[in-house]
Amino acid sequence: MYHVPRRYAILGDVHANLVALEAVLADCREQGVTNYACVGDLVGYNAQPIPCLDRIRELCGPNVVVGNHDFVCSRPDPLLGFHPLAKAVVLWTREQLDSERAEYLRSLPETRTVETFMMVHATLDDPLSWGYVFDKLEAEVSFSYQMAPVCFYGHSHVPTAFEKAGIVRGGLYRNLLITPGRKYLINVGSVGQPRDGDPRAAYAIYDLAANTVELRRIPYDIAAAQKLIRDAGLPEQAAARLAQGR
Ligand SMILES: [Fe+2]
Repeated sequence: MYHVPRRYAILGDVHANLVALEAVLADCREQGVTNYACVGDLVGYNAQPIPCLDRIRELCGPNVVVGNHDFVCSRPDPLLGFHPLAKAVVLWTREQLDSERAEYLRSLPETRTVETFMMVHATLDDPLSWGYVFDKLEAEVSFSYQMAPVCFYGHSHVPTAFEKAGIVRGGLYRNLLITPGRKYLINVGSVGQPRDGDPRAAYAIYDLAANTVELRRIPYDIAAAQKLIRDAGLPEQAAARLAQGR
């Protein structure tokens, strides 16, 4: 029987930026992506939470994990420790979400295993404490809870990858070859609000047959996304930072 090789697009931190998401999805189609998965934060920061949520839900099916913005935007709890900018958009997003979509966000799991890989938004050691993995020490802690050879994550909006082969090595990446017997913890960057100084949308393609992970950077109409933020009356800083990739 003919078997189509599976090429997964791993999307993360879409953050309600539909202009960026559509540009990424157009690239996915050109790149022959066959499956979709999302490491969370569908909403927050930008102005189009509903269509972004609907697109991710439709494309990814069960391959979605919860992000901290998905978590707080779908619950009425007080916002402790949130940056004022993020907080303003969380309060606005709560008003946009109807009860059915809020329930969808509340139903998302903390971690998920898809075929040969795991997904988590922040860290595997304590997914709902929303810690960050920027360096090797932080990666080492998460690795000790990683059962699958590959785990994709998000949250920092910085595309970094770590490899554990005895010691842990890692940093920024573009192309990875997954070597059997080693473990990989791979941040796919952010579709909707990159923070590594490159304003282009980021996502990764995991080719299960070739055992490769490729980071993709996709230009999109940043001015259009900024106009939507300003038209919605959201904080100017949320619009300005898109052009800086910070
Ligand atoms: Fe995020």
